[in-house]
This record gives sequence, C-alpha cells and structure tokens, in this order.
Amino acid sequence: MTDRLTIRRPDDWHVHLRDGAMLELVAQHTARQFARAIIMPNLTPPVTDAAAARAYRDRILAALPADAGFTPLMTCYLTDGADAEAIAAAHAEGVFTACKLYPAHATTNSAHGVTDIFALAPVLERMQAIGMPLLIHGEVTDKDIDIFDREAVFIERTLAKLVRDFPALKIVLEHITTAEAAQYVAEAPANVAATITPQHLIINRNAIFDGGIRPHAYCLPVAKREGHRLAVRKAAVSGSAKFFLGTDSAPHVVEAKESSCGCAGIFNAPFALESYLKVFDEEGALDRFEAFTSENGARFYGLPLNEGTVTLERVAHRVPDRVGDDTLSVVPFHAGETLGWRMVA
Ligand code: DOR
Ligand code: ZN
Repeated sequence: MTDRLTIRRPDDWHVHLRDGAMLELVAQHTARQFARAIIMPNLTPPVTDAAAARAYRDRILAALPADAGFTPLMTCYLTDGADAEAIAAAHAEGVFTACKLYPAHATTNSAHGVTDIFALAPVLERMQAIGMPLLIHGEVTDKDIDIFDREAVFIERTLAKLVRDFPALKIVLEHITTAEAAQYVAEAPANVAATITPQHLIINRNAIFDGGIRPHAYCLPVAKREGHRLAVRKAAVSGSAKFFLGTDSAPHVVEAKESSCGCAGIFNAPFALESYLKVFDEEGALDRFEAFTSENGARFYGLPLNEGTVTLERVAHRVPDRVGDDTLSVVPFHAGETLGWRMVA
C-alpha cells in the first residue's frame, strides 16, 4: 500500500478568494497547497476591467507572506457590456488569464452577468483568435427549469451552440456535476475541458438533507443524484487530459450559511488535496492523481508545469469544526470528519 505520495506542485483552476478580512483568512490555505490559482471575479462590484484586476491581484499578494510563491491568475467577469479590445489588451499584458461567464442570476454575485452570451460574439471571436479561455458557470437560469436539471439543459441549449459557433475557442465547463456534462466534455474536441470540485466527487444530493437541512453541503451547481456523482468520479480518475482540478472553494461566514436563505458555496481550501486524494485512493487511481492535479490544467491553459513538489502522507487527522476566530468564522468541507491523508510538505 502506498503511504506517501510526492507530486509536482499543483494548481487550482477555480477558486473564490473573496476580499478584505475573508481574503486575509482564506488566501493562505490556497497558497499552501497550490502554486497558481484561477481567481474568480465575482466580488462586489465584480472585476470587469484591468485596473480592478491589478488592484485585486495586489490585495491577494499582500494577504500572503512575501515568500508564499503563489501566483494568482486573474479573470474578467463578463457583462453585457464587455469590450473585446479592452479584454484582449489586458490579456496581452498578462492581467487577465481568462474570462468568466456567469449567466445573469445563476449564482452568488452574478446579477451583472451575461443575459445573452451570443450577443457577445465579437468578444468570443477575439478570445478565440488570441487563445484566451472562456470559463463557464454552466447552468440555465430559467425558473421553470428544475434546479437539478439546469446544468444538463445549459449544455443542450447553450454550450453545444457555443462549441459549434466558436470551434477553436478554449472553453472550460466549470465544476461539472452531471453524467451529461462528463460525457459531453469527454466527447467534445480537445479545446473543451472541465474542472471538477472535491465536493461533487464526494457528496450527492442526500448530503444536503441528511437528517435535516445541511447548509454547508449546499453549493451551486447543487450536488446531484448518486449516479451523477459516480459519473463525475469516473471522469476525474479516467486519465483524460480534459478533466482537471478546480476546487470552487467558496467561503461564506457561518452566519451567511446557517440562515433562512443560506448562501451557496463550500469552503474546501484547507484540505483540498486531501479531499481529492481520498477519491483517487478509493478508486485505485493514485497513479492518475498527479496529471489531474498538476498537469492537465496547465497544459490546457498553455502554461508551464510548476517546479517543486508537495508530499502527502497516509495519516488520520480530524478536520476542525471552524476556521477563523470569533469575528470571522467559516465551516470547512469535511468539518469534524477524519481524513486519511495529509499534506506534510
Ligand atoms: O456555490 C457556489 N458559490 N457556486 C458559485 O457559482 C459561486 C460561489 C460563490 O461565489 O459563493
Ligand atoms: Zn465558483
């Protein structure tokens, strides 16, 4: 039995680091495990231009020790007013790595999101031409579509058309949760990939209703039926280069989760690698772990692989109930559970 695993330093291709005091609390957890991360732009107000992205990047770096060795990769929050020229210029300058598509009102801070993605054709054409990835929150927002069907319907109604109309555009379908998404991406051309979160590999929708309503198991896209979880697990450990690590770690203070209208988001940053490794171990796929964590994403983005390594050991440890202090406290994924692996260096 393998009890110690050393892998190339990984990247997180989808994370919410927030701002202010929350940023101060959570950034260290992501920087401890990952060399780079794609930073979600859904702040209030959202990060829609280069000046805002530069300033946010500076705040992220200022929240970390000088020797953290962590590179935030910034994203542009697309709105109906997105401008192709400005986006291309900021990409050329190295400020924006990718653009994020939130369909308007799909999730947290998406009110300024896009109402009709096809109206942004000039932006998408430009991104396609310069090789700038489009990161998609893939859910339709129509209230008449059942919340558990919103991802599958998005693929049918929107994604398939995007892939057809912009055949060379690099697209990442983010945080996939369904068998339909896993199959669509697996069969799509090489310029279409997907990120997978730890929670969608580990919980199904029963976790949200386990003996009562469990706000800390609620995120968007919402966890689906067991069959979907199994399909997403299969994709993650398949060895396909189209699937890679993106935690979607999305912290909210405990009061905002444990509320009559609790926020969507699971804070998994403190033990993200341990969480993924549990899955690869259970699936007998330790040999495919490193490609998922440290190679597939970088290759898709056309970025160099990281230097350096991280090491995980098979050792039981209990995940704390809370991260933070009395003034700012977040419940981490796996709170109170015992995990079987731990990052040691
Ligand atoms: O659960 C989620 N939380 N899903 C999202 O898409 C957004 C995120 C957040 O920002 O809290
Ligand atoms: Zn997210």
